[in-house]
Amino acid sequence: GKDGYRHYMEKELHEHPLVIGQTLQRMVDPASRRVILPELPFNLAEVPRAVITACGSAFFAGMIGRYWLEEIARLPVDIDVASEMRYRNPPLTEGSLGLLISQSGETADTLAALRSLREKAIHIVSVLNVEHSTMARESDVVLGTVAGPEISVASTKAFTAQLTVLACLTIATARARGKLDTLAEEHLVSALLDLPSRAAEVFNQTDAIRAMAQVVVEARDVLYLGRGSMFPVAMEGALKLKEISYIHAEAYAAGEMKHGPISLIDRTVPIVATVPSNALFEKTLSNLQEAKARGGRLLVFTDTKGAERVSAIAEQMVVLPHVHDFVAPILQTIPVQMLAYEVAVLKGTDVDQPRNLAKSVTVE
Ligand code: F6R
Repeated sequence: GKDGYRHYMEKELHEHPLVIGQTLQRMVDPASRRVILPELPFNLAEVPRAVITACGSAFFAGMIGRYWLEEIARLPVDIDVASEMRYRNPPLTEGSLGLLISQSGETADTLAALRSLREKAIHIVSVLNVEHSTMARESDVVLGTVAGPEISVASTKAFTAQLTVLACLTIATARARGKLDTLAEEHLVSALLDLPSRAAEVFNQTDAIRAMAQVVVEARDVLYLGRGSMFPVAMEGALKLKEISYIHAEAYAAGEMKHGPISLIDRTVPIVATVPSNALFEKTLSNLQEAKARGGRLLVFTDTKGAERVSAIAEQMVVLPHVHDFVAPILQTIPVQMLAYEVAVLKGTDVDQPRNLAKSVTVE
C-alpha cells in the first residue's frame, strides 16, 4: 500500500535515501570501503570506449554517467536515446563497453538497441531494476539497482539508484584504467556513503518546494536550466513536470539560453534552475541574472554554500546540504522530482497514472 502517503509517487520519493543506501550496500565492500563489481567477462582496463543508451529518465541518468566516466575515468563516451542510437548506425569499436539503463528491463527501444550493439561485438552491461527481465537475460553483466518495485508511472527512486550504480561503475573503471589512486577513491566512496543521510535532509525543504509549486502551477510554460552534470538534472525535472502535471517544460543548458530561448522569457515563464556551488556556479548565476533582467522569475535549487549568492537574485530558493561535486547531481534530483509532484497535486491530476502513459513501454 501507500503507507499513508497520498500517492505511490510520494511514497517512492521518500524512499530515495533507503534505495541509495541499499544500492551502495550491494556495490561497496563495508570493510575495505572499496567498490566491488561482479565478475566481468572482459577486462575493464582494456575497454576503448563506452556507448550509453536508454530512454526517458534512464537516458538522463546515462547523461550524468557520461560526465562521470569522461571526467573521472577519462573514458570516451558516446550517448544517445535508444530509439535514435539504433538507426544512427554509428561506427563502433569492437570490445567497447555498451551501457544500457532501464528500470523495467522491458523497454522495446532499449532492448532493440541492446541487440544491435550485441551484433557489433560490444560488451553489454545493463543497469536494471527488474533483474529477471528480458534485457537481463540478454546482457553479459547485470548491475542491479536495489530500488524495489516502482509503482508510480513516473520514475523517481529508480533514477537515483541508477545514478548510484553508475557512480560506482565510474570509480571501478577509473581505478582499472589507472586514473584514481587509493586516496582519491576513498574520497569519492565517502561522498557516496554519506549520501543517504544528506538525501534524508532534503525532506526538511518540503515547505519551500511547495511554495515554488504555487508559482509553477500557474504557468503554461516553464524553463529548466543547469550546466554540466546539472543539465541532465534539469532535463529530468522538465520531463517529470510535463509527464504528471501536463505543464509544458523545456530544459536547456544554461549557457545555451542566450542562443534562443531567452526570447521566451517574461513574467509568465518561470525559470527553474539547479545551481549548487561548484566550478560552474558563477557562470550559471550570470545566466540567471540575464533571465531576471528580462523579467524572468527565478526558482532556484542550491546548497548551503551557494545560498547567500542565490538569495540575492532568486524569488524563491530551496537550500540543500553541501556535498562533494561528484554526488551533487544525485542529491539535486530529489527536490526537482518533488517539485513536479507537488505541482501535479495542486493541479489534481492522476499523479500515479498520468494520461497516455504506461509503466513499461513495450512498443517501438
Ligand atoms: C519518466 C519515465 C520514463 C522511463 C522510460 C524508460 O518518469 O518513467 O521516461 O524512464 O520509459 O523506462 P525504463 O527505465 O523501464 O526502460
